[in-house]
Amino acid sequence: MSITTAVQRPTVDEVRRLNFSQTVGLVNEPNMCSGGAATLRTILRETPGLGAGDRILEVGSNTGFSVLELASSSHCEVHGIDIEDSSVEFSKAKATALGLANAHFKVGDGTRIEYPDGHFSMLFASNVTSFIPDRRRAVDEYYRVLERFGVLAAVPIFYHRQPPAALLAEVEQAIGAPLPRWSRADWEEMFGRPGSELFFSEEYEYDYLTAAQIDAYVAAVLDQPCNDDMSEELKEAAGRRLHYFYTLFNENLAYTRYAILLYRKGQPTAFPVLHTSSAVAGTAIRR
Ligand SMILES: C[S@@+](CC[C@H](N)C(=O)[O-])C[C@H]1O[C@@H](n2cnc3c(N)ncnc32)[C@H](O)[C@@H]1O
Repeated sequence: MSITTAVQRPTVDEVRRLNFSQTVGLVNEPNMCSGGAATLRTILRETPGLGAGDRILEVGSNTGFSVLELASSSHCEVHGIDIEDSSVEFSKAKATALGLANAHFKVGDGTRIEYPDGHFSMLFASNVTSFIPDRRRAVDEYYRVLERFGVLAAVPIFYHRQPPAALLAEVEQAIGAPLPRWSRADWEEMFGRPGSELFFSEEYEYDYLTAAQIDAYVAAVLDQPCNDDMSEELKEAAGRRLHYFYTLFNENLAYTRYAILLYRKGQPTAFPVLHTSSAVAGTAIRR
């Protein structure tokens, strides 16, 4: 797939000062949700009944990875909104190149979603809510645009160990936004609403990467045909910047985990279970 957008290339000096999002935009890094396509397959598998006629919205769709994956693996109409217009332009170009007529993108703000009440069967919010200063208002909006019994699929990254203050400060500088030091319980409190039901949750830890794995990933990003117009000098500068960010994030992610949290908006019966139970470890088969 060859993606072309009118990209204005910066100078080598400018590249050295780019933050993470700007660097990602420059080299078209896919910017996947935590866990990549496997996370999206888990969400679709655990939300049976989604199909033709259903609409999904991703808030913070960045350069489109999740929307395109969801559109290609379901018969749903999938929409992405992001506050960055350049990311939205990239996403549209990818959808056109892939011929995915059920993937739609527009610029939008998660705290003022420009869709009517109850318009979507599912709302996907991966690593976006932490970037929004008024998180409670954003989550209210997520629920507003969901239909009754619709599903909020949230994939927050959270701290399960206290990171060193200097590391946090450096990550905040790299992403250009304050980083909430939130635990999983904090996120569950934020995403829950009266009458909503957390019906699925799974927690994951990140693998710690070697320098060689980071090198190989940076090379793969730069080798994409859409970067062929960059000079070797510019590619080298962008590669060094990416390598710096991934090494920093690798350190930070060692203190974090992420969770897939699926909430249903409203419950047909909210009566408590009398004979409660728990799964017997090692007895589940999933292929
Ligand atoms: C880390 S990226 C998320 C990428 C990917 N969807 C994921 O989950 O990992 C965060 C995205 O949220 C977008 N964003 C930040 N504030 C936003 C807001 N108020 N409304 C919509 N998108 C926003 C940013 O532009 C960025 O593309």
